[in-house]
Amino acid sequence: MSHTLSQQLQEDPQLIEGKKLILDALKKHQKSITGIRPAKSKFKADYESTIKRLEEIRAGGLIYPYLGSGFGKGPFVELEDGSVKYDFICGIGVYQFGHANPDIVEASIDGAIQDTLIQGHVQQNRNSLELSEQILGLANQGQHMFDHCFLTSSGVMAAENALKLTFNKNQPANRILAFKRCFAGRTIAFSHINDKAMTRAGLPDAFPVDHVPFFDPEDPEESTQRTLEAIKTKVEEYPDKHAGMIFELVQGEGGFYPGESNYFRKVMEFCKSKGIAVLVDEIQTFSRLKTPFAYQYFGLPDLIDMVWIGKASQVCATLFKSDWKPPAGLLGQTYTSATSTIEGAKQILKALSEKPFFGDSGKIERLSKFTQEKLAQFEAETGLINGPFGLGSMICFTPYNGDGVKVGSFLKRLFENGVIALSAGSNPTKCRFLLPYPVIEEDDIEAVLNIVFSTLKELA
Ligand SMILES: Cc1ncc(COP(=O)(O)O)c(C=O)c1O
Repeated sequence: MSHTLSQQLQEDPQLIEGKKLILDALKKHQKSITGIRPAKSKFKADYESTIKRLEEIRAGGLIYPYLGSGFGKGPFVELEDGSVKYDFICGIGVYQFGHANPDIVEASIDGAIQDTLIQGHVQQNRNSLELSEQILGLANQGQHMFDHCFLTSSGVMAAENALKLTFNKNQPANRILAFKRCFAGRTIAFSHINDKAMTRAGLPDAFPVDHVPFFDPEDPEESTQRTLEAIKTKVEEYPDKHAGMIFELVQGEGGFYPGESNYFRKVMEFCKSKGIAVLVDEIQTFSRLKTPFAYQYFGLPDLIDMVWIGKASQVCATLFKSDWKPPAGLLGQTYTSATSTIEGAKQILKALSEKPFFGDSGKIERLSKFTQEKLAQFEAETGLINGPFGLGSMICFTPYNGDGVKVGSFLKRLFENGVIALSAGSNPTKCRFLLPYPVIEEDDIEAVLNIVFSTLKELA
């Protein structure tokens, strides 16, 4: 007999039958989705006025006229205008496991019948611990790295928590080092870490940030020296003032620029020699390369002090060793995350641990190669794009020589034609995909790229 009433409820045959009925209904209706389809003209007027109202209420235009109906299947999403689109950006990597994924729906029902909609700092349930253990399990695969995992509900809050630990331990250092082209989040503090002026327009400084150049694959030796020299200059200019350096091992928003193992190793070793914490932002890279974490891919576990994740994990987390433990009161929050989200995240972490996604013969590598080969072939045949670029399931290409306005128009037409992708970077601006690899196969990629290629030709 289960010892809590909660367990007795979860095991109640009525509840089990109820969940089965819900999932059967979901799967029955999902059979109606067999591919993309255009909007229905009878919904057009209502759809457009609803989008307009949403834009007014949010005080800003949407990137796409996207209003989800709340239904989908794998890489397909239904919009309120009745259209069905291929989603190859997944809310910038959030719905990597696809739309209306039955396993995640089932897990979130387990969360939905629990006592509270959302859990927080003061009152947490066992599933927060279970999720933390799962995340640490993936992070510590092969080599023990981290002792602690602090959950939170947004990527930038996980990043803020990492910086709080860093500044607190490395007092009185008050500066941060970061790379040019990096993106780090949208609090006032992180807007200054972003190398993107529009994200901090009119905002006051929080603490000083020194930006240094990133790796250049065309010139590995020179660019390594350039980065080291730039850091040394800043460290000489402000001795003992740098608390930490933030690394995005594959730059995401900046345009999918991967670094390289030796490069990171040299830069990180220099940071360590100066007592500068090595901080790795894996919000966008988590679960997208051949290994669960990018620091594992680049072979850097011995050099890293802290890592934070988000997006694909649904619940965000800061991972750190026991020597970075916070003093009481430094970290806290009303919300950890919604209970359904925590249960859904547990299901995602379980799939990431158990399914053959990672490794040289894993699904990420297989689909990545397939996509990149198709893009390279199109580049060779037509010259309409440059690329492909990126790593793992983070793949992009540059149309129109990276002209931001033209890439924007192309993406809008691509959306109308049934594929959702997004831009990344500026000068050049690229078109990027975050592949929903768990729920696609080669034929989906082929179908999406055919639409991409015909749209490029249509606009050429
Ligand atoms: C590398 C990186 N860091 C941090 C963030 C911020 O995450 P969130 O939007 O969940 O706060 C993002 C979001 O795009 C990101 O790509």
